Amino acid sequence: MRKIAIVGTGYVGLVTGVCLAEIGHQVTCIDNNVDKIATLLDGKSPIYEPGLEKLIHRNMAEKRLEFTTNHREAFFKVEVIYLAVGTPQNRDGSANLDCIFQAAREISEHVSGEIVVVVKSTVPVGTNDKIKQSIEENALSPLKVDVVSNPEFLREGHAIYDTFHGDRIVIGSSSKRAAAIIAEINEPFNIPIIHTDVRSAEMIKYASNAFLATKISFINEISTICEKVGANIEDVAYGMGQDSRIGSQFLKAGIGYGGSCFPKDTKALVQIAGNVKHTFDLLESVIRINNHQQLKLVEKALLRFGSLKGMRVAILGLAFKPNTDDVREAASIVLVERLLEEGGRITVYDPVAMDNARKILMNEVNYADSLREALYQADMALIVTEWDEIKEFPLEEFEKLMATPIIFDGRNCYRLEDIEQYAIEYHSIGRAMIK
Ligand code: UGA
Repeated sequence: MRKIAIVGTGYVGLVTGVCLAEIGHQVTCIDNNVDKIATLLDGKSPIYEPGLEKLIHRNMAEKRLEFTTNHREAFFKVEVIYLAVGTPQNRDGSANLDCIFQAAREISEHVSGEIVVVVKSTVPVGTNDKIKQSIEENALSPLKVDVVSNPEFLREGHAIYDTFHGDRIVIGSSSKRAAAIIAEINEPFNIPIIHTDVRSAEMIKYASNAFLATKISFINEISTICEKVGANIEDVAYGMGQDSRIGSQFLKAGIGYGGSCFPKDTKALVQIAGNVKHTFDLLESVIRINNHQQLKLVEKALLRFGSLKGMRVAILGLAFKPNTDDVREAASIVLVERLLEEGGRITVYDPVAMDNARKILMNEVNYADSLREALYQADMALIVTEWDEIKEFPLEEFEKLMATPIIFDGRNCYRLEDIEQYAIEYHSIGRAMIK
């Protein structure tokens, strides 16, 4: 058992803290956001993540998990401090490291003796060395710091599962002692550990996300060609994925990737490459393809109708993927903005992301309380997120509720054979149109 402090209670920090407590460590999570900490002290999760609240309760009750806004208190007698603060993108696409260096200053002020700092936040290659330098230079009392890069690979919506069942844990360190401490902390997860130098660990994170984003843009490009040559993207992706060198995951064509990671990390890697005078052509194309793909449903609707002026559009799903309330960089946002420009009258519905969407879309759209309400009298429905509630929605309801049952499905939620049983016009991604 180790005494650990975690700075930042966002997705990564909170899940890491809760899971480290679950495997027996003594964990204090710190955040500057007073409201967030108050919510957590109340035993509630500030983010929507299946299974998280249960673990918060259990570990608080068993006194392994604490929350505070006070760094001095949190860092008292800790052996390891995890940094899991946000690294949002700057205007030029580079990662903003203000929160990282703010956290480093807090360590300099409140810690003395010896400390291992584990960086979970996604930071450009070379940043961990700068963090070490910053902490040591600003230290108020003698301090020996080892900085370990330990990138995070969890997915929103599956965060707990991924933490306990990840494919690998990467530990990048120049200190054998620090690497051994972090390996020991993670031992109960029973996940293979890969030891590297610090910079390679930092790069593994960016390269992994960039590669997954590339897979998605690749399959989306293939889906566009499939539509034109009369092939079926689902069969094509399945046939490709059976080759174990390719793998079947992340070959689901749709309206592109969103969220707080892929869009930000791909742009940051282009920047990182640019800083060392390398043009990352491939990744730039991946990003361009994705930007285009997010608007695919409007493009299809415009092709179908000529103009969307005055048309009633139901947007089904707003989150960037199912099982999350996150709408950051979601296709829904750019789609709605574009539809508004085209003069559409929009009603949106999402099972959990309505509050977050309201903060962005404000009063530009109507908000429905149910799928049925969103579809009522609509001229077309655009499916943006493949929530189970949408996939399981009875198809006859589209017929009954809509003014004209025309669906543009950005996530291929339905089987073409099923759609054919109804008087629905159905446009999906990389598959034949059904009329
Ligand atoms: C992603 C990675 O999967 C995690 O490994 C990583 O830790 C995380 O970013 C991060 O850097 O923190 P996440 O953003 O939660 O996780 O979501 P994913 O499940 O990877 O989905 C990302 C986007 O890709 C979604 O918009 C999803 O709809 C889209 N996607 C995914 C596709 O369009 N097709 C696919 O086949 C898979």
